[in-house]
Amino acid sequence: MDSFVIHGGAPLRGEVTISGSKNAVLPILAATLLTGDTCTIRRVPDLSDVAFMLRILESLGAEVRREGDAITVRAARIQGFGDYELIRKMRGSICILGPLLGRRREASVSLPGGCIIGTRPIDLHLKGLAALGTRIQVENGYVHARARRLAGTTIFLGGRAGPTVLGTANILMAAVLAEGVTVIESAACEPEVADLAHFLVAMGARISGIGSPTVTVTGVRELHGADHEVIPDRIEACTFLCAAAATKGDVTLQGTRPEHFGAVLDKLREAGVTVERAGTGLRVTRRGKVRPADVTTQPYSGFPTDVQAQFMALMTLAPGISVITERIFESRFMHVAELMRLGADIAIEGPNAIVKGGRPLSGAPVMASDLRASAALVIAGLAAKGTTQVHRIYHLDRGYERMEDKLRRLGARIERVAGE
Ligand code: EPZ
Repeated sequence: MDSFVIHGGAPLRGEVTISGSKNAVLPILAATLLTGDTCTIRRVPDLSDVAFMLRILESLGAEVRREGDAITVRAARIQGFGDYELIRKMRGSICILGPLLGRRREASVSLPGGCIIGTRPIDLHLKGLAALGTRIQVENGYVHARARRLAGTTIFLGGRAGPTVLGTANILMAAVLAEGVTVIESAACEPEVADLAHFLVAMGARISGIGSPTVTVTGVRELHGADHEVIPDRIEACTFLCAAAATKGDVTLQGTRPEHFGAVLDKLREAGVTVERAGTGLRVTRRGKVRPADVTTQPYSGFPTDVQAQFMALMTLAPGISVITERIFESRFMHVAELMRLGADIAIEGPNAIVKGGRPLSGAPVMASDLRASAALVIAGLAAKGTTQVHRIYHLDRGYERMEDKLRRLGARIERVAGE
């Protein structure tokens, strides 16, 4: 397993281009199952999660071709139920459930395992699909879903932690080929869900209220192929914003959509970081000290849970107390123990992490645990004095495209070391 070796202390300087969004492209690739025509998806990031999804599509009988950062998919016929091992290994694969039901009225998908950040239930997905007329059986670790016909209805999809992103995606992808009108109440408003909806409309779906908590879908008989460019990855962008701020750098992000990460910009400015438009890019600089700031993660357009760990790494540098509250997932503080190995002073009390910042970090060997926790450890290593080894960075490769190359081009002293 590969590791990163990081020699900290170098300020990040220069320009970085943000890749296409992992969390938009996964459901969009799944949506190509809704038609027998060819779909072209552009700005597809080269990530292990994307490679997994493409293998799942092929295991269902689709023809898949990559041409640079464009992927063409043609699911002329859907065979079988997909490769269990592949589906089991990647939670995001649950979003093939909706399109398989929409296209074929049946699906058998392995229950996604929990993961290190929480149990990751799918009760809301199943509630929505059942409301559309699907018969659901959960047995032997599989979800078996069948529907004689899918009939539009009104569905409230809010759960204990608010809306569900992939749950909204699944219901959208089943409803577009259902008979009649479906109203999704408490729909997720994340830009990635809106991007999926725009792709479905390009395929001939009829959807209104895109990006709002109430989305209305009028079913159509069939969908056709489409050509779609994926939105830039706002979480990768926010990761680089935090890294530039942590290293007292001066970085311009290209190819990003600042309107997608308002809450993060607001908190970075509160922390004493300057973020301003620069031509078509977004420039982040930090000259003075980092200031402490409190954050609570919320559904969009609140502070994203996927940026919580990265922002915490930055707050370890801010003299004073920062309280970081995780409201979306039940155990998303795996990075805390590892940040403490680098010298951070953090106490966890239930959903709150109390960060006593200001003490300089010093390099040490640390272990990545989930995708965003790994990013937080890289940020802390870049800011720490001395050398940090981040082990098990396969977690990072799931969601960041050649992160070490992008960081090196910004002046970071980082290299990938092949593991045993
Ligand atoms: C998506 O996961 C993202 N993944 C996650 O990003 C992201 O953290 C999450 O949305 C929240 O924004 C992809 O898009 C591939 P949810 P998803 O359903 O859809 C509870 C990353 O780092 N819930 O919005 O699986 C759930 O337990 C990943 O890129 C139910 O209770 O998340 C959680 O507490 C990590 N019942 C909350 O809702 C359900 O049926 C939000 O989960 C579904 C979810």
